[in-house]
Amino acid sequence: MIGTLLAKPLELMEDNLRRPAGRAGRFFGNLMAVQHRSLTLWAIEHMDVRSRQRVLDVGCGGGMAVNLLSRRTGQGFTAGVDYSMEMVEQAVRRNRAGIARSRVEVRHGDCAALPYEDSSFDQVCAIETFYFWPDPQRGLAEAHRVLKPGGQVSITLEMSREAGDDPSLVQRVFGRRFTERSERAGLHILSGDDLVDSLTKAGFRDARFVSQPRRSLGWVCALAHK
Ligand SMILES: C[S@@+](CC[C@H](N)C(=O)[O-])C[C@H]1O[C@@H](n2cnc3c(N)ncnc32)[C@H](O)[C@@H]1O
Repeated sequence: MIGTLLAKPLELMEDNLRRPAGRAGRFFGNLMAVQHRSLTLWAIEHMDVRSRQRVLDVGCGGGMAVNLLSRRTGQGFTAGVDYSMEMVEQAVRRNRAGIARSRVEVRHGDCAALPYEDSSFDQVCAIETFYFWPDPQRGLAEAHRVLKPGGQVSITLEMSREAGDDPSLVQRVFGRRFTERSERAGLHILSGDDLVDSLTKAGFRDARFVSQPRRSLGWVCALAHK
């Protein structure tokens, strides 16, 4: 009974995490900007972003990470790409000041065909989006293409196979059921090792991952260099 009552709201949430649209999409975009903030700060900490770098956030949603990254790139440049027009508009609103100074840009585009030239970024990140990509290897190949030689890619997720032997209360109550539901909906739920393999197959070197198994449904951040 509860499952049936929850099915519709869950579907609405899943649809709007995958590709936010309309009024519900705008709501979820704003919600994600709050809910993904600590995961994003954790990801950025591992990226080691420097002033003057050029950084691209793929699947940037409402632009919260773009905003945080642009504070670190200073005199550099931060860009966001998303295939949802609602999210592009929201990210533009959230980054007005940086855009006015030509230090930030948000473009409409797909991870499978990034709207940037070869070798144009020092860092490419993707936060809470990789599992939605229909062809993840294609997305990684694109990240590789737009990175400068020596540039760094990072893929960060809050739901993974890293949730471990000592599950938190949230993981015990929701964990497996939510993960299985997501897989049935076509999401790729990966371990840190899976991500490392995918990055290596895409031509990156020195792939590694860090994790926080007890956070959400297993935070993981995989990093590698071109
Ligand atoms: C769960 S949201 C995460 C947004 C943001 N990165 C964050 O952490 O708050 C996933 C985002 O990825 C975007 N996305 C999914 N597939 C994409 C694709 N193939 N190309 C570009 N963006 C994509 C969605 O539109 C959505 O904004």
